[in-house]
Amino acid sequence: MTSPVRFADGALHLLDQTRLPAEERWLECTTPDEVADAIRRLAVRGAPAIGVAAAYGLALGMRMADRDEPPLERFERDADLLAGTRPTAVNLRWAIERARLAAEEHASAGPEAVAGALEVVADTIAHEQLHADRRMADLGAGLLGEGDRVLTHCNTGALATGGAGTAGGVIARAWEWGRLAHVWVDETRPLLQGARLTAWELARAGIPFRLVTDASVGALMSRGLVDSVIVGADRIARNGDVANKIGTYTVAVLASRHEVPFYVAAPLSTIDAATATGDEIAIEERDPSEVTRLADRPIAPEGTPAANFAFDVTPAELVAAIVTERGVLRPPYGESIGRALAT
Ligand code: MRU
Repeated sequence: MTSPVRFADGALHLLDQTRLPAEERWLECTTPDEVADAIRRLAVRGAPAIGVAAAYGLALGMRMADRDEPPLERFERDADLLAGTRPTAVNLRWAIERARLAAEEHASAGPEAVAGALEVVADTIAHEQLHADRRMADLGAGLLGEGDRVLTHCNTGALATGGAGTAGGVIARAWEWGRLAHVWVDETRPLLQGARLTAWELARAGIPFRLVTDASVGALMSRGLVDSVIVGADRIARNGDVANKIGTYTVAVLASRHEVPFYVAAPLSTIDAATATGDEIAIEERDPSEVTRLADRPIAPEGTPAANFAFDVTPAELVAAIVTERGVLRPPYGESIGRALAT
C-alpha cells in the first residue's frame, strides 16, 4: 500500500490525491501555506492523514521562523492557518494540540529546537497511526463473517491514514485471512473518493470489488447482496455518534432497515472527548461547484444553486461496533468510549 505522506530532505511530499487514478504525481511542500492548501484542496485527505500532514506543516513553519521571533507566536499563526482548513476531521485539531505541548516545552530553547521537536511529534503521530491501523485491521477482520460481501463508503485505506487504513485496513486483513468474498465500493459523490481512490487501492492490492453508484446501496441490500458495512470516521462524539463522509448516514439507515451490521473503524485520535453528541460536530460545507461540475465539466445548467455538505452524522444507535486500536467498542458507547479513553 502506498503511504501518501512522506517527510524527507526538509520537505513534505504528498501524493496528490486530486489527480488519482489518472496520474501519480507528488507535491513537495516546504511551507505551512503549501500544506494548508494541499489539505484544503484534498490533495491530502482522510482524517488521520490530514493530522499527520498538519503536524509536519507546523514543523516546516517553525523552520522558517526568524531567530528573534518568539516560537510560540509563530506556532499559533501556523496552527490557526492549518486548523482552519477542514473543520470536521478532529485528528487535525488533535495533532495540533499534541504539537502545541511540544512547542511549549521547547520554546525557551528557540525556534530551531522547537522545529526539531515538532518534527519528532509528526514522526511519532505517523508511526502511531501505523500501529493503530494494524491493530484495527486484526480486530475488525475478526468481526466479519466467512465469505462476507462487505460494503464500504469513501476512502479509508492507506491513502487516508498513511498506514494500512482504518476500514480499508480491516477489509485488506479480512481478504488476507480468506474471509472476504468481495467488496462493494460506492462512488462517494461528489468527489468520488470511492470510485477514484478505493477502487485504485483495491485493484492494486488484488482484492476483488465492484463499483456501484451511491444510489445502488438500497437495492443491493434489499436483494441480500451485502453482509456487512464498514466505514471510517472523521469525528466520533462521546456518545458514539459518528461524523463521516456525506452519504454514510444513508448507508447506515439502509443497513439498519435490512439488518446488515454497520461497523466503524477509527483510531482513538478520531474520538473527540470534548464533543458530547453529533449535534455539536461542525460539518464542513464545500464549494457548490464540486456538485455542479464533474471532472472540470459542468453537469448542471449554468447558475444552478447547490449545497455541498462534506459530512453527515450517523447516530450511535445505528452503529453495531466501533473498532479502535484499544479494542472493539460496543453500545452503550457513552460507557465503552469512556473506558477506552481512560486506559
Ligand atoms: O473529505 P475526505 O476525503 O477527507 O473524507 C474522508 C472520510 O470521510 C473518511 O471516511 C474518513 O476520514 C475516515 S478515513 C481513515
